[in-house]
Amino acid sequence: MIPDTFIERLRDESDIETIISSYVALKRRGRTAVGLCPFHSEKTPSFTVYPDSQSFYCFGCQKGGSVITFIQEIERLDFVEAIKLLAGRAGIPLPEEAADDGSSRRRARVLEINRTTAKFFHEKLISPEGQAAYNYLTGRGLTRKTIRSFGLGYAPDNWDSLKKHLQDAGFAEDEMLSAGVLTKGRSGRAYDQFRGRVIFPILDLRGSVVAFGGRAMEDGKGPKYINSSDTPVFKKSHGLYALNFAKAAKEDMLLLAEGYMDVISLHQAGFTCAVATLGTALTQEQARLISRYTGRVALAYDSDGAGQNAARKALGLFSGLDISVSVLDLGGAKDPDEYIKKFGPIRFRNLIEGGKSAFEFEVERLQKKHDLDTPDGKTAFLNEFCALMADISGEIAREVYISQIARQLDVSKDRLAATTAAIRKKKIGAHARKQAHNLRTFVQDNPETLGGRPSARRGTDLSGLAAQRGLVALLLQNPDYFGEIRSKLTENDFTDPDLGAIYRAVHTLLEQNRTPDLALCGSQLTPQQMGIASGLVASGRDIKYYREQADEFIAAIHKQKEQKGPDEVGNMSPRQLQEYINTRRAIK
Ligand code: GTP
Ligand code: MN
Repeated sequence: MIPDTFIERLRDESDIETIISSYVALKRRGRTAVGLCPFHSEKTPSFTVYPDSQSFYCFGCQKGGSVITFIQEIERLDFVEAIKLLAGRAGIPLPEEAADDGSSRRRARVLEINRTTAKFFHEKLISPEGQAAYNYLTGRGLTRKTIRSFGLGYAPDNWDSLKKHLQDAGFAEDEMLSAGVLTKGRSGRAYDQFRGRVIFPILDLRGSVVAFGGRAMEDGKGPKYINSSDTPVFKKSHGLYALNFAKAAKEDMLLLAEGYMDVISLHQAGFTCAVATLGTALTQEQARLISRYTGRVALAYDSDGAGQNAARKALGLFSGLDISVSVLDLGGAKDPDEYIKKFGPIRFRNLIEGGKSAFEFEVERLQKKHDLDTPDGKTAFLNEFCALMADISGEIAREVYISQIARQLDVSKDRLAATTAAIRKKKIGAHARKQAHNLRTFVQDNPETLGGRPSARRGTDLSGLAAQRGLVALLLQNPDYFGEIRSKLTENDFTDPDLGAIYRAVHTLLEQNRTPDLALCGSQLTPQQMGIASGLVASGRDIKYYREQADEFIAAIHKQKEQKGPDEVGNMSPRQLQEYINTRRAIK
């Protein structure tokens, strides 16, 4: 936890206009400064900086917040990382709690060991001792420059050359063990984890070495790859190889490959937006991480069965996220590395442009699965196809795919559409029932979260939502009305989860007699919620809220609640139910 006093000091010494000016050309217009938004493309400036409240807001894309939010968004860091960056720039030492507890000391030691280790391995690679490893890498087409920029290395083929080197550098054996560069044998003796292998250091977003992958130089001598296990500075299931480079790529997308070598080849060929998971299948965390960085990802998975299965699973993980996914067809090559070597970067570029959508990929899979030349195979295919189409929520997309297949297989389009519609209806019904069931169990399991009568967000009741929005805007503009508002309203009265969270953050600050400053809210709110909050502050500049309006808003919020009785929960649409569940969870 970073103390609020530290954040306040940081905010005071990091003038928002100055900081943002180093990223965006700003023009002063009276009390505000405007420029072209760095977060979306625009020709006329709607990105506004408010020096007096030390906040920013873009009227075009609704991003906004404090100087910390700005750094979070533009440098793609989390809240604490953004604070560290700003503190570094302002020359403010980090607070004791953030920098000096036992675990961060240990982390710092582990990072030092990793850095020393990476350097040691790299030096070995370019020394005579590493000649064979160096030749292996150049033999696979890597240039000297690529080897250097990825910091590749060579782990000598003996038990303790790294251990001795690190001992000489003043590190203790248990520190080396917790960095994962040593491992303990059955005898209890600790020895080098990587031996006789080519080394791929794994860097985090700040460029610190957090782990290693080591590849055997010939087949059949032990496992092909050995990867660091999780350590205090590394979580395999969360990281992505080369994201530190890819986040600076000029492409508006990420390429997701399976292997280290694929990524390095792709970067060398100019596709610097390539990343890979670290020797494991894609996880939900990694998928989410990717969707935070980009709105588009192309999967460049191996073309063998295992790779295609992995691609399918990855598509599933992306499906719930706000990102468009395509799958590259590496036909003719086993992986991106080989594809680039065989067909060159231009063809690979074409491949990216023509990548298959998730549905095309799935339809092709079904086509391969069934023998379309037999009536049974065709029927089985069409059944699965319609079930797949039933999951597409866009009517036009459904129509397009159905027409295509109908034409291809010479079957009636209307028949396919009708079958799809029937499955869809059934699925939606089942979904609603499942949601209702989930809700009932959730409510039964968490009676305390209900706070008496259940409230629900009504998608259609704008006045209730508008009142919630108005109330938060009013409170941000007039914190002195807080005492009165607090006595009439609790955060449970907010049915919109984002507004509820903003109210809670403001509430917490005001309880502590602090100003409801956006910079302080940042630790409790997501950047998206910061955008909403700063939008409310920005809109409040043109509207003066009065005390009487607080009562109107409060009355409307209560009225909205009264309109929903407990049994209405059962009659909600799946969407309303979902929102309701989310609201309850958010409040909980
Ligand atoms: P090359 O065969 O050198 O081209 O490697 P690659 O990077 O293309 O790897 P491959 O497609 O064989 O495997 C994909 C990824 O899975 C690798 O980069 C590793 O991260 C991981 N991996 C492969 N083999 C092993 C193994 O034997 N053990 C572990 N733990 N991971 C492996
Ligand atoms: Mn490969």
